[in-house]
Amino acid sequence: MIKTLYWKNGSTYILDQRLLPDKVRYIKCRTHLAVAKTIKEMAIRGAPAIGVAAAFGMALAANERKFNSLKSAKIFLVKAKHTLAKTRPTAVNLFWALDRMEKLVLEFNGSCPGLAKLSKEEALRIYTEDININKNIGRNGARLIKRNSRILTHCNAGALATAGYGTALGVIRSAFKKNKVKLVFVDETRPYLQGARLTAWELKEEKIPYVLITDNMAGYFMKKGDIDAVIVGADRIAKNGDTANKIGTYSLSVLAKHHDIPFYIAAPLSTIDFKTRDGSKINIEERPSKEVLNINKLSIAPKGAVARHPAFDVTPANYITAIITEKGVFKANELKKLA
Ligand code: MRU
Repeated sequence: MIKTLYWKNGSTYILDQRLLPDKVRYIKCRTHLAVAKTIKEMAIRGAPAIGVAAAFGMALAANERKFNSLKSAKIFLVKAKHTLAKTRPTAVNLFWALDRMEKLVLEFNGSCPGLAKLSKEEALRIYTEDININKNIGRNGARLIKRNSRILTHCNAGALATAGYGTALGVIRSAFKKNKVKLVFVDETRPYLQGARLTAWELKEEKIPYVLITDNMAGYFMKKGDIDAVIVGADRIAKNGDTANKIGTYSLSVLAKHHDIPFYIAAPLSTIDFKTRDGSKINIEERPSKEVLNINKLSIAPKGAVARHPAFDVTPANYITAIITEKGVFKANELKKLA
């Protein structure tokens, strides 16, 4: 599988997902500011991938200047953390990874080159851990899938949304290996088309049978009895299990409940925000309306049309059948225990 991002010779290379599926091109980032730009402008996206990229951004920051004291290095790194934190507000993995990097920096007592080396090692550890976590999520989730399942997924929660393997798509990958997946319904995911451009591409590469549908077709197929399960990722899971994910997820959960179809969230424990009591407290990113008014720079609405673009919505905990993590499968109301 193609790499979402990687570290080479002191630079971070980020796959520009805005160009997929037409072009495979990496953006070479030498500074944390360059990484922040790729996150803000959606060259890299997906909660765990954003977290890993931010960790790489911190590692770059530790390397990008000759500091004359450890104190000045730490001041610079804390500033870099705040810059990276301002890129996208909803995915908690971003803040989780930045807090982890900051803790390491603040607790360090040694030379500036030592700090740079340690930061790089920690970022690489976050990267490797993410892939292993996703494989465990895949393994745990595959057990829930019945033979010959037709699974609907929304957005892209695949290898491209993580350091590798994916969360929701990781479950589908693992279940497919066990011959449990007959067909994947891929929501195109307006307005950014993560489903059509990214998920369909990943499934094609893996030769997993899929069919692309527009977001407003899910109810039709559910009513016909064509969908056996819904699996999606998450950007932030509140302590009570309410889950923020790509806009459109909430509508799918309502449809799934109505049609008695299991609705699963697949996410690493780092996506659970124990400091947020419930979904009403989650900060929902509002993105530029031009992303709704245009598709690939082609205007699809009258000049001057007003549009809204909340990038995420919140699915209430009681609409979620189970949350699949690397440590096991939990009911939404069991999360408190994990805190
Ligand atoms: O705006 P995006 O593309 O970053 O949104 C991504 C999603 O909503 C994903 O479903 C979520 O981050 C989980 S990715 C494993």
